[in-house]
Amino acid sequence: MYRTHTCGELRAEHAGDRVILSGWVQKVRTLGAMTFIDIRDRYGITQLVADDKSSDEIREKAASLGREFVIAATGTVRERASKNPKMETGDIEVSLEKIDVLNASATPPFTIEEQSDGGDELRMRYRYLDLRRAPLRRNMELRHRMAFEIRRYLDSKGFLEIETPYLIKSTPEGARDFIVPSRMNPGEFYALPQSPQTFKQLLMVAGYDRYFQIVRCFRDEDLRADRQPEFTQVDCEMSFVDREDILDTFEGLIKELFRSVKGVDFTDPFPRMGYAEAMERYGCDKPDTRFGMLINDITADVKGNGFAVFDSAEYVGALCVEGCASYTRKQLDELTAFVKRPQVGAGGMVYIRMDEQGPKSSVDKFYSQDDLARIAGRCGARTGDLILILSGAKKKMLPALCALRLEMGDRLGLRNPDVYSPLWVVDFPLLEWDDETARFYAMHHPFTSPKKEDFDLLESDPGKVRAEAYDFVLNGVEVGGGSIRIHDTELQRKMFHALGFTPESAQEQFGFLIDAFKFGAPPHGGIAFGLDRWCSLFGGSESIRDYIAFPKNNSGRDTMIDSPSAVAEEQLKELQISLRR
Ligand code: AMO
Repeated sequence: MYRTHTCGELRAEHAGDRVILSGWVQKVRTLGAMTFIDIRDRYGITQLVADDKSSDEIREKAASLGREFVIAATGTVRERASKNPKMETGDIEVSLEKIDVLNASATPPFTIEEQSDGGDELRMRYRYLDLRRAPLRRNMELRHRMAFEIRRYLDSKGFLEIETPYLIKSTPEGARDFIVPSRMNPGEFYALPQSPQTFKQLLMVAGYDRYFQIVRCFRDEDLRADRQPEFTQVDCEMSFVDREDILDTFEGLIKELFRSVKGVDFTDPFPRMGYAEAMERYGCDKPDTRFGMLINDITADVKGNGFAVFDSAEYVGALCVEGCASYTRKQLDELTAFVKRPQVGAGGMVYIRMDEQGPKSSVDKFYSQDDLARIAGRCGARTGDLILILSGAKKKMLPALCALRLEMGDRLGLRNPDVYSPLWVVDFPLLEWDDETARFYAMHHPFTSPKKEDFDLLESDPGKVRAEAYDFVLNGVEVGGGSIRIHDTELQRKMFHALGFTPESAQEQFGFLIDAFKFGAPPHGGIAFGLDRWCSLFGGSESIRDYIAFPKNNSGRDTMIDSPSAVAEEQLKELQISLRR
């Protein structure tokens, strides 16, 4: 028998029991005649002791164990003389009678404890060792709990989990595809799905009116803390529904997850915000609504005073930061350097300090006290506040103001990860104009339905059409997105036309879906949530990597298995692929 209990299980009430524990040696300490061993498994850590009551053989064996040796330890549970309230098993220890070394271990390259001394890169290379650490173990448990509760909830609402293929044809989402060569069809390629979008719509045509799938998706895009090349979606679709039915159903799922996983009860309906308002007041389509500090358009208030920077700017926007009038020159210089970083992209920053004696700005030469008071009024600023102003092209300044707002939120401690602020962002534009290629692109995907009241604009003024699309945003992170789809052939034709497709090119790319829709497509819509992002928000971490057992690094590499890697000449030959080096 390898074990009677786990390493996280024993308590004071087990005192006197003879037990066997199996696990890894986390630490060995010898103090005079006593040797203490911390033994670890998935469930916790228990202290083992060899002392003057143990045999010489046991004492010697205990002292000789190396870190990460796998052992089975037999002994008797006893209450500790000095208890450790920080450990769940801290009331007891196991007095050793027998140690079996099940396997020795090489010295691990970093310490496998709550806090490790290993750097990111090293821990990624030995991910299986990092996964032994409690913080990662807790993350894996959280992920499991989330997936489990999602399945339980959706099953209770009549959803069927149906798998869709991984070897498919290019899907019409925005990112690049990963492609897979086909040996049996030389010169032809599969694509890995960016999402099961078209398949779930085909399932609606097939009559499976409530579908979901916890599914891997693949996108060849630049990576960030919240983006991995393969990630997991909770992908859902429903038939015979309108937007309200969908928001209602999935608000139910979100609330249930908050309740069952986080113990947080949301009784009120989640707030909703139009895309236009999100952009104007928060500078982005995924506002962090844990705090205010909204963007104020002060363009009309600052023009015509001879300050060339503002006079020539298309847009001037301001943030009012409460209680920060006392910011020092150094702090303001730091903020100016922040907004000038290429990622933020502002040319500079103007400030107004709302001092006791009256407003004091970095552009006092051009603006009287009355002018400054008017600007302050527009921003709702009061004595003691600080106004930060950026100017330039509106398309660039809104994201810059968004970045500055988040930076100030961080500095002022307004972005507490334990505070949750859910939000539906609705009424996205249907199309997005791209200057470079001089054409419209679908903001979501080409099957998203326009809002009924905007149908007519699709041909006359496509840029103005709003979509029946929605995102679920939590603390400034886009966790999910979806839409009501087009099920009407004529409307779909107009949409393809607006996107610059000829009937032939649309048929070539989406023929299977267009054809399927001729056979009775029901009204339908859906949503997909990013499971990795959702876990990272519930776990309180910025990076989704911490919630994926075997993630890729920022260059898309798995340094543990050393992938991607070259393949044998033979394999390429079989695929009829030649590499020009
Ligand atoms: P969308 O492209 O918005 O919609 O994706 C849905 C959600 O997936 C997550 N996500 C990612 N997570 C980690 N790494 C990535 N690279 C990544 N890309 C996206 C986000 C996002 O909100 N088929 C549509 C959904 C629909 O219309 O039903 C779709 O894929 O959390």
